[in-house]
Amino acid sequence: LRAELLSAVEAAADRDALDQLRVAALGKKGRITDMMKGLGAMSPEERREAGQQLNALKDTVAEAIEARRAVLDEAELNDRLARERIDVSLPVRPESAGSLHPISQTIAELTAIFGQMGFTVAEGPDIDDDFHNFTALNFPPDHPARQMHDTFFLPEKADASRLMLRTHTSTVQVHTMTSTKPPIRIIAPGRTYRCDYDMTHTPMFHQVEGLVIDKTTHMGHLKGCLIEFVRTYFELDELPVRFRPSFFPFTEPSAEMDIGCSRAGGELKIGAGDSWLEILGCGMVHPNVLKACGIDPTEYQGFAFGMGIERIAMLKYGIPDLRTFFESDLRWLRHYGFAA
Ligand code: PHE
Repeated sequence: LRAELLSAVEAAADRDALDQLRVAALGKKGRITDMMKGLGAMSPEERREAGQQLNALKDTVAEAIEARRAVLDEAELNDRLARERIDVSLPVRPESAGSLHPISQTIAELTAIFGQMGFTVAEGPDIDDDFHNFTALNFPPDHPARQMHDTFFLPEKADASRLMLRTHTSTVQVHTMTSTKPPIRIIAPGRTYRCDYDMTHTPMFHQVEGLVIDKTTHMGHLKGCLIEFVRTYFELDELPVRFRPSFFPFTEPSAEMDIGCSRAGGELKIGAGDSWLEILGCGMVHPNVLKACGIDPTEYQGFAFGMGIERIAMLKYGIPDLRTFFESDLRWLRHYGFAA
């Protein structure tokens, strides 16, 4: 029996087989256990002899099982180590990394360019009141421009006034002039809102406002500053520009700035050409605006400008549809080089 059990233990192929063997030999109904039970029927003499032998057999078998178990465990561990080996020479799996939204990238670029010219960044709230969005900016009470702005209004308050989503970043001109003393030299990038939606309009879009107030600031400064800006932004030293007379209630005189382009073969190309492209509104700050903000227009004057951030990004990268900025399509981001 001893030889039979030991060779079966040696032959057990895995832990399960070994367990079955243990139960069959040493378990409650195992063969050795059965024989132990037989001891009771023996004479004391026989019992001592047989008991010793049985105990020795039991110990030997138990030890053999333990030893076999250790061998099996080690074999399994070696097997796993071999199977789970990591090949450090394999190429890395490409991990996609996030990147800044093109609008954020453009704002960073604008901030850097104007930063070089001494502008700091100012901010104002997205939700604002009539004073900051219209009245202080010299919009008369029934001026049609108030309607033209397609304003999103919040529900009327008890005093019949209503807050609104700012329709332009010019609100930040007012916030800045009423809270800081001149000289002022700020840009204010941020979200703006108008109720409109098509290829070139989305209800939320971005503008960057510029404001310079000092004692001797004049139209030449405005032109020099903006020419420097567009040539740096579009990376074209000779980019042609022109200033066209225009109207805004908060600037006088007002102008729109165009940059040169060509549209040969239906393809828009920024630079020298026979066409013009409007890129921003600007002008000398209206004396009424200075007065509304508590600044003496006989002592101070300055200029302001405002442009659409999506628009200048669309022109630089040749993006035809404004709405694609807000669709979060990875293929679009990659196509224009905004994501890896
Ligand atoms: N706020 C104007 C707009 O939204 C742009 C502008 C800003 C024009 C500053 C002149 C001066 O169209």
